[in-house]
Amino acid sequence: MKIGIFGGTFNPPHIGHVQAVKTAAEQNNIDFLIIIPAGIPPHKILPDSTPDSEKRYIMTKNAFSLLKNTKISDLEIYSKENNYTIDSVEKIQKEYPNAETLLLVGTDMYNSIDTWKDSERLLKKVTPVLLPRNVIPISSSEIREMLPLRKGREFLADSNYAYIIKYRLYGAKPDFDWLSEKALSMLNPLRIPHVKACQTEAVRLAKRWGVDPDDAREAAILHDITKKLDFSQNMCIIAENGNSVNLINKNEEKLLHAITGAILAKSEFGVSDEVADAIKWHTTGRAKMSMLEKIIYIADYIEATRSFPGVDRLRIAAYENIDDAMMIGLEMTVSDLKSRGITPNESTFSAISDLGK
Ligand SMILES: [Fe+2]
Ligand SMILES: [Fe+2]
Repeated sequence: MKIGIFGGTFNPPHIGHVQAVKTAAEQNNIDFLIIIPAGIPPHKILPDSTPDSEKRYIMTKNAFSLLKNTKISDLEIYSKENNYTIDSVEKIQKEYPNAETLLLVGTDMYNSIDTWKDSERLLKKVTPVLLPRNVIPISSSEIREMLPLRKGREFLADSNYAYIIKYRLYGAKPDFDWLSEKALSMLNPLRIPHVKACQTEAVRLAKRWGVDPDDAREAAILHDITKKLDFSQNMCIIAENGNSVNLINKNEEKLLHAITGAILAKSEFGVSDEVADAIKWHTTGRAKMSMLEKIIYIADYIEATRSFPGVDRLRIAAYENIDDAMMIGLEMTVSDLKSRGITPNESTFSAISDLGK
């Protein structure tokens, strides 16, 4: 049996790693692959943004999950000391005494193999195999640079991209097409035009009022992601996150989606506190709203698919004086609820009295 060993920091693991290993395994008739994500590697000083070992281990598992006869080893990942290839190779050879061991290495490593710890002994135990270059010409460091620019998704396994966004590893920000796809799949299809239009309106308002349009876009895309959920599903999300809410009446159930939307936007999509707050307060408003909160509140109210008496007045106000627009919107909400015999939420009154000061 031929075993192929491939170690690396996998920071993050990408499709270039997987393809190169797959090709090398085919070309060398390797029967079984052992992938070893490094703990604290002796050859490299890791960049500051490096996720902890656990996260790199999980991502490495995700990345290689489609390769057959492949095991992700935790030999090195949790070790607090420097790990040397010779040590890991000897451990593996004890486990597989009759196998031939091939060590898969990239060009840089291949050229410096003489400088590795106990290199002579190592080279008696393994056959080094140079990984094919440029199967997919991309490196982890290039991906790390792309992620904060909302790029690089195509070089990662889907599960890893979602994972990186969830924890915003490497300062990653979500690709908007990806985020929209995820968010829209959580909606009742009838709500899709509303959310798309809300996005357009929020970006326009953000540019008008000097707020980061990308923050506004993230908030707008995600603002209704839990709207489809029923009462108990919403309450579950709230309880699971250690929160609680007091509902003063049956109508307040409709407000839950703003709270749970903010929770999921943060826990699943890693949004900032500012974006989460804009989602949280998009139905009721509150005192001392940030500009981003006002923008999402108003965008939700006036986006292009909305039609109700007074919407044109609100649309004009939104671009002339957003506080006037807020006041009009909040008061419309109050009178609409009252006309239906529903007590408006306290936060809505706080928002009105705050703006009236
Ligand atoms: Fe909503
Ligand atoms: Fe909405």
